[in-house]
Amino acid sequence: MTANTHIPAKTPDQSETVMTEMVLPNDTNNLGNLMGGNLLHWMDICSAITAGKHANTIAVTAAVDNVSFQHPIYGGAIVTLKSRVTRAFRTSMEVAIEVYTETMESQEKVLTNTAFYTFVALGPEGKPVPVPPIQPANPGDRERYDAALRRRELRLILAGRKSPKDAPALQALFGAVQP
Ligand SMILES: CC(C)(COP(=O)(O)OP(=O)(O)OC[C@H]1O[C@@H](n2cnc3c(N)ncnc32)[C@H](O)[C@@H]1OP(=O)(O)O)[C@@H](O)C(=O)NCCC(=O)NCCS
Repeated sequence: MTANTHIPAKTPDQSETVMTEMVLPNDTNNLGNLMGGNLLHWMDICSAITAGKHANTIAVTAAVDNVSFQHPIYGGAIVTLKSRVTRAFRTSMEVAIEVYTETMESQEKVLTNTAFYTFVALGPEGKPVPVPPIQPANPGDRERYDAALRRRELRLILAGRKSPKDAPALQALFGAVQP
């Protein structure tokens, strides 16, 4: 799981991606608001660009978690997506994405959605390959970097790929697991 210290680290700034879309009639549900699935599609593209730029190779989505839909996004709205790598592991990376919505009239950005995506870098043979470690660039990056380890342990436990006994960061948070 440990980061690849033999590869030079990169900062989240180096792969940050900002993408802007406008909600058109074909993107909406029967209420005239943006369909959740269309938003997830945009979020997947934005975060895949970030992961691919960090890894310098194609990266596939392995998991999506903690997607929140805090407000409806109305037809005609301007949607800005911003993604950053929070932490890189051996072949996988966690990408945090934030979605801001504004109208032409207000031009005031409101945070409407957040999520964490996990991507795995693939080499020419389609197999997972090592990725550069992340060097947090500011206190916010450092906080997300530290918490990413707990999120990784939890998602791998929920995916049946890890035992709670092998999750030291979660144990430190919740107390040691009893045998
Ligand atoms: C993602 C994928 C490449 C992982 O392959 P695998 O054979 O499980 O590979 P490994 O066991 O070597 O794991 C590779 C990495 O993926 C991570 N991973 C695998 N499944 C995961 C999951 N459910 N959640 C989070 N990370 C996961 C592992 O933790 C590992 O990370 P690490 O190297 O940083 O420790 C493979 O499952 C795949 O190709 N999935 C389909 C991807 C895809 O098509 N995405 C689009 C979906 S629409």
